[in-house]
Amino acid sequence: MAQFIQSINEGEQEISAELSAGLSAQTAFTSAKYLYDALGSKLFEAICELPEYYPTRTEAEIFQIHGPEIAKTAGLGATLIDLGAGNCAKAASLFSVLEPAQYVPVDISVDFLRDAVARLQQQYPKIEMTGIGMDFSAGLSLPDAVRGSQRLFFYPGSSIGNFSPQQALVFLKKIYAACDQDGGILISVDLVKEKSTLDAAYDDMLGVTASFNLNLLCHLNRVLDADFDVRQWRHRGFFNAAESRIEMHLEAESEQTVHWPNGMRRFKRGERIHTENSYKYTRQGFMDLLTQAGFSGITAWTDPQEWFLVCHARVM
Ligand code: AVJ
Repeated sequence: MAQFIQSINEGEQEISAELSAGLSAQTAFTSAKYLYDALGSKLFEAICELPEYYPTRTEAEIFQIHGPEIAKTAGLGATLIDLGAGNCAKAASLFSVLEPAQYVPVDISVDFLRDAVARLQQQYPKIEMTGIGMDFSAGLSLPDAVRGSQRLFFYPGSSIGNFSPQQALVFLKKIYAACDQDGGILISVDLVKEKSTLDAAYDDMLGVTASFNLNLLCHLNRVLDADFDVRQWRHRGFFNAAESRIEMHLEAESEQTVHWPNGMRRFKRGERIHTENSYKYTRQGFMDLLTQAGFSGITAWTDPQEWFLVCHARVM
C-alpha cells in the first residue's frame, strides 16, 4: 500500500487571514492555490483536455518523443518528487523510461491526491510511493520518509508560471537547496507566443476555464464562510504582453457587498478580483533563471513550434 503523509503547514486561521487580507486590498486578489479544491482539481483536469489548452498535450508530446533522452540525462532509479502532482498522470507517463526508485507526489489538494496515489500504486506495485499532502509554496521541508539520494524534483506543466520571476527564483533556490549533491530538477515552462493563442487557452469556448475560475468563489464561500453570489461574477482571462503573463480575474457584474466572519467588501460593477498569474518565458530567459538559482548542466527540449519547454538541470 502507498504511504500517505499529511503535513499540516497552514491552519484555518492563517488561511482565513490570508484570504481576508487579499480580498480587502485595494485591488482584491487571491492566491492561485485556492483554485484547487476537489472540484477545482477536476475542472483543471478538464481544462487539460480542451483543444485550446495546448500546454498539457504539447508537454506530453515532448515527454513522448524525448522521454528516453530525458531519462538518460536525469538518470534511472531516482527519488522522483512530483510538486503539484494532481492526478499524477504526467509522472506516470515517465515511469517506464525513468524507472524511479521512489515516487513522492506532493499536492495541496489532499483527498484528490490520496485517491490518485492509491490507484497508481496498484498499477505500479514495485515503485515505493509516498504521497504528501502539503502546500509546498510555503516551504519545501520534506518528511524523513523521502529518500535523500538522487532526488529529482519534477515540476511540470508550467506551474512555476504562477510565481512572478522574482518569486520563481526564490522557489528554485529552495529546490536547489533540497537537492543534496546528486540531485536535479526536471521542470517545464510555457513559452511566449502569439497573443491570440494564449488568450484562447485561458478563455476557452466551452467556458471550462470560466467555471474553474468561478469555482474559486464556491471554495471561498466554504473555507472563508463568505457569501459570494457566484452568478454575479464573470471570468476574464487574457495575456498581458507587457508583464509577459496570463492574468485571470473575476469581474463583478453588478455592484454588491460580500461578507465573511471578520470582514466585508463592496465591489463596484466591473471591479475585479485578481485570481491568477501565469508567466510565460523565453527559452533563454528561463535557462538564465535556472542558472541564477545555482543550477548547471542545463538540457532543454521543446516541440517543433517552440510553444513549450522542458528543462533538466543539476546541482553539480
Ligand atoms: C497549473 C498554473 C500551469 O497557468 O496554465 C490553466 C493553471 N489556469 N488555466 C496554467 C491554469 C487557467 C495552469 N497551471
